[in-house]
Amino acid sequence: MFYKTDTNAHGLSHDPFKAIVAPRPIGWIGTKGRDSSYNLSPYSFFNIVSDRPKIVMFSSSGRKHSLRNAEETGLFTASMASRHIASQMNASSAPVDYGVSEFELAGLTARMGRVVDAPFVAEAFAALECQVTEIIQPKGLDGEGADAFMVFGEVLAIHIDEAIIRNGRIDMDLARPLGRMGYRDYTDGGSDVFEITRPSGA
Ligand SMILES: Cc1cc2nc3c(=O)[nH]c(=O)nc-3n(C[C@H](O)[C@H](O)[C@H](O)COP(=O)(O)O)c2cc1C
Repeated sequence: MFYKTDTNAHGLSHDPFKAIVAPRPIGWIGTKGRDSSYNLSPYSFFNIVSDRPKIVMFSSSGRKHSLRNAEETGLFTASMASRHIASQMNASSAPVDYGVSEFELAGLTARMGRVVDAPFVAEAFAALECQVTEIIQPKGLDGEGADAFMVFGEVLAIHIDEAIIRNGRIDMDLARPLGRMGYRDYTDGGSDVFEITRPSGA
């Protein structure tokens, strides 16, 4: 199969694009508004973009509440969404009014960051505390701004639950971080983890 994206004529029942860039890590973004309300939502347009310094990015399709809060406060957290809290992660994606806490909605505990004034998921095995470094609206080839806003943040502090550490490493069998596949599919990085040594030996 081959198709060009100007027509997007793939002929399939569902658009395969997001199933090709898969699995995608999920940044479970916690923010606080200027009005002190809490917000929590999953973002699979999320990744590390630098490790010196440590910078992560989530991208909002359109102007969503997490973007608004990150703009207002310059702060966010990214909790690890694992298999044991998969249904809560999904519940926190509900399209609720601004100011409604998805922590409460999903039955999760909001814990404030120790370095940044933004909440993270206490039940998560790990969380990153981040300060916004820049927010970019990417452009298409026509020079027009995409309907997307990329929020970059430097990771200032990291929480890890000792329960997922084995032999000095985060054990994926224990952590089971969710990955978003295409459609409604997820993976949990569990028992199918395998090791490959790089040509450099690293
Ligand atoms: C697993 C998962 C991943 C998602 N990834 C994104 C994403 O990367 N960008 C986005 O704009 N919405 C994404 N969504 C949808 C948002 O979570 C949803 O629109 C949510 O209501 C946004 O909340 P907010 O307005 O409080 O930020 C995702 C939903 C799920 C369930």
